[in-house]
Amino acid sequence: MPKSVRKAVIPAAGLGTRFLPFSKAVPKEMLPVIDRPVIQYIIEEAVDAGIEDILIITSRHKKVMEDHFDRHTELEAVLAGKGKTAEADEVRALSELADIHFVRQGEALGLGHAIGTAKNHVGDEPFVVLLGDDIMLNSVLKGMIASYEEHQSSVVALMEVPKENISSYGCAAIEPVVASGGSATSSNLVQVTDLVEKPAVDVAPSNLAIMGRYLFTPSIFDEIERTKPGVGAEIQITDAMLSLLGSQTMYGYTFSEGRYDTGMKIDYLRAVVDFALDREDLAPEFRQILLAAVKREGLA
Ligand code: G1P
Repeated sequence: MPKSVRKAVIPAAGLGTRFLPFSKAVPKEMLPVIDRPVIQYIIEEAVDAGIEDILIITSRHKKVMEDHFDRHTELEAVLAGKGKTAEADEVRALSELADIHFVRQGEALGLGHAIGTAKNHVGDEPFVVLLGDDIMLNSVLKGMIASYEEHQSSVVALMEVPKENISSYGCAAIEPVVASGGSATSSNLVQVTDLVEKPAVDVAPSNLAIMGRYLFTPSIFDEIERTKPGVGAEIQITDAMLSLLGSQTMYGYTFSEGRYDTGMKIDYLRAVVDFALDREDLAPEFRQILLAAVKREGLA
């Protein structure tokens, strides 16, 4: 009986240099998309996919993330006293979302190293990784977990990007998954055959980029320990995954929209617009604001 996927790891230790000056004193994971921080969307996505236990890899100056998911009894009492029961419940619910733990990555040695610090906590179980910058309007996590339940192998989320942008990502070469009858299956699952972290455009094996969702078996930890620093002199998770390819089938879970890298200013703006349009309480009024801006700017 395969173990079910109960645990998630969220690397959130980066300095956020692409979002200065905001990220000088406030972690970029606390950037608000409307009324909640980026990290909350990520945790809610994990919980929605059935995850019960979450380990956030953090670093110095990020304690505010811990506060966000802790009880705030004084605030709850003030809200309750004013009859704001719904708000009080919402504040308390944040501390009850999941079993949330924190561990520090003492040195910024790369994403692979950050994930490696989760080894003891994860133990001998499959687990998912959600990158602390990437939020999804339509989550692929449930589909990735379903794929694991069927195949008991690693899965990575992949999305096509314009070829000229591929050097900002991990890049995957793939082939179709062939069903037992010999024909290619029609789902969004593909088989990963090669991986390169941030390749130059002219040598990239495809325009399929690794997006911030992974599902690993615990064997990834041995590969991380063996992985030498790669691009940017950092221990890259993509390199550890490439070694894993030698001993395990790895699936790619392809999707085409609804992912936002909130660590990039322009994608952050896109996230705010799309998430606001997805909110019933805000969308009608916000649409009018967008319409007025489009007219004013002569865009339509
Ligand atoms: C990291 C990974 C890269 C992946 C990207 C997705 O890069 O190393 O493989 O494609 O996240 O956001 P980073 O954005 O940290 O440079």
